[in-house]
Amino acid sequence: MTQEFLDTNQYSEISIMHYEQIFGHNYISPGGKEVADEFISTLNLRPAMMVLDIGCGLGGPAFRMAQKHYVNVDGIDISANMIRIAIARLKEEGLESLVNLKLGNCLELKDESIYELVHSRDVFLHVKNKDLLFEVILKVLVSGGRLCFSDYCLGQTKPSEEFDTYLHDRNYSLLTVTDYTKILKEAGFKNVHAEERTEHFVEILKRELLNLENSSLKEHEKYILQKSWMDKIKRADNGEQSWAWFYGEKL
Ligand SMILES: C[S@@+](CC[C@H](N)C(=O)[O-])C[C@H]1O[C@@H](n2cnc3c(N)ncnc32)[C@H](O)[C@@H]1O
Repeated sequence: MTQEFLDTNQYSEISIMHYEQIFGHNYISPGGKEVADEFISTLNLRPAMMVLDIGCGLGGPAFRMAQKHYVNVDGIDISANMIRIAIARLKEEGLESLVNLKLGNCLELKDESIYELVHSRDVFLHVKNKDLLFEVILKVLVSGGRLCFSDYCLGQTKPSEEFDTYLHDRNYSLLTVTDYTKILKEAGFKNVHAEERTEHFVEILKRELLNLENSSLKEHEKYILQKSWMDKIKRADNGEQSWAWFYGEKL
């Protein structure tokens, strides 16, 4: 997945602004601030901990981790549009002493044994080479460090032609929860576990449809997003798509 592809398609400036109408200010992932807080509450963060947020987007989750737990967060994102907006938002939040944001592809990270936690929310669907992804993450983690992420997954039902086309057009690489767990273990992560949260995902999507209804977007803009959200609900309901939270440790 290239920066140019994302910046000119899914994460063009206008698309980002539309997404924010659904997810909320500073968020581009399911459930916005509420779910970010729920996810963060599972992380056992302690002040001064070193955290890497992969695919930090507009910075919402990174800002919350720093505000609530005084951790140091480095955020990396491949989209120039996201990082440009995120850096402006970082200044507005006044969190420059705790949060550092940079443009880059997580697959090209060169750091070794720096982070106690790697956090990522709904990013790895964009990354085809999961073996390399987890190799890089293991390298950046300190011994005893943890990886916690959420992601779109394939369900148990074979993807329809329509779903296949969507995955192809978005350039998404989705795995089943079982395959994800297997790849994490093969990469060398220990104490791997996955929590299937598809029902939660559907509840969130339904709430977000209401946000969209009440948003200031124009009718045709609402229609495009409504269709996309309703398709996700349909795929989750019929078992084609799922959503899960994952955990793994580096020994
Ligand atoms: C669905 S958004 C999630 C943003 C953020 N995590 C949040 O919760 O609001 C996915 C983000 O991953 C970023 N991304 C995709 N591939 C990436 C890569 N290889 N390295 C770094 N960031 C990447 C995208 O640019 C986008 O900002």
